[in-house]
Amino acid sequence: MNVNRRHLMTGTIGAAAVAMIASACASEDEGGGSGSGKKVGIAMPTKTSERWILDGDNLKASFEDEGYEVTLQYANDVAADQVSQIETMVGQNVDVLVIAAIDNKSLSGVLAQAKDQDITVIAYDRLILDTPDVDYYASFDNTKVGTLQGTYLVEALDLANQAGPFNIELFAGALTDNNAPYFFNGAWAVLEPFVTEGKLVVKSGQTTLEQVATENWDGAIAQERMDNILSNFYNDGSVVDAVLSPFDGISRGIIASLQGSGYTTMPVITGQDAELESVKYIISGLQAMTVYKDTRLLADTTVDMVLAVLDGKTPDINDEDTYDNGDHVIPAFLLEPVSVDVTNYEVELIDSGYIDAADLG
Ligand code: GAL
Repeated sequence: MNVNRRHLMTGTIGAAAVAMIASACASEDEGGGSGSGKKVGIAMPTKTSERWILDGDNLKASFEDEGYEVTLQYANDVAADQVSQIETMVGQNVDVLVIAAIDNKSLSGVLAQAKDQDITVIAYDRLILDTPDVDYYASFDNTKVGTLQGTYLVEALDLANQAGPFNIELFAGALTDNNAPYFFNGAWAVLEPFVTEGKLVVKSGQTTLEQVATENWDGAIAQERMDNILSNFYNDGSVVDAVLSPFDGISRGIIASLQGSGYTTMPVITGQDAELESVKYIISGLQAMTVYKDTRLLADTTVDMVLAVLDGKTPDINDEDTYDNGDHVIPAFLLEPVSVDVTNYEVELIDSGYIDAADLG
């Protein structure tokens, strides 16, 4: 697979993207192409996070480059709206559906309709569960995302040499997103031995996925939970030394909470997605790291999959074991996530063209 062969839209997160986030709303954006005359329906979860705006833009551009007609829709994190949008796409006789699910268990009905019409279904970044009607999965190594976050915390606190104890609090993503347990379990596998050893202490006692999950990956909800943790468990003068956060939007909520409580030096805080605002936080020292997942590569991987399938070929797959969706193991292509902090953001994000240095100013 050559994921770089297309002329990709720049992944740059610029002022325009920020403006789009500010005016986030359900939207429909229909593009036209001729070429093969085939149609693709792309269902993205939300415009409140800039990563999905980049995903949608990159997918649309890449499919249009190949001559596809594209329907791109966002559903504002409302699962029922996403189902209706996909129903409409099925009604438009698309050849392919590319779906980043809001609720991984809400799509069985509409995907059965899609299969009746022989529509190829690609689960994009997030696996769709409990249905026979998903053909392929394009994502990143989601366990590794968590491993990178957990490992970063262990190394930043120098737990190999320091006895601590250090106080850590844990956050995870939305329970409706199949990725959330992969991220959390990947990180927890690294962190738990240090909790058992007593070098890390979770003062809130909240350590299960259900206890630490964040509905809709919403930063405001994470902020509220952090407020509660700080007022209930850190009202004795103790401080939080580290926070496992799965996603930049959640990290920003946590940072706002800590700032509101008077923290001037931040704990070591993780993140994911290399969102512009959080890269600024990394440079200024508010957030320690993020996990960078190049959405341009994910879009290209997805387009390559679709081209192969519609050409009657088997697409490139590099994982046929990990992602059982409850019905069967979905063949997947998994890309490599990259740990980014202040020491390597220039090489990884700017030199690669993902972020424009001017936007960091
Ligand atoms: C996940 C995705 C993460 C992050 C999160 C919140 O499914 O893998 O990269 O974007 O959603 O949007």
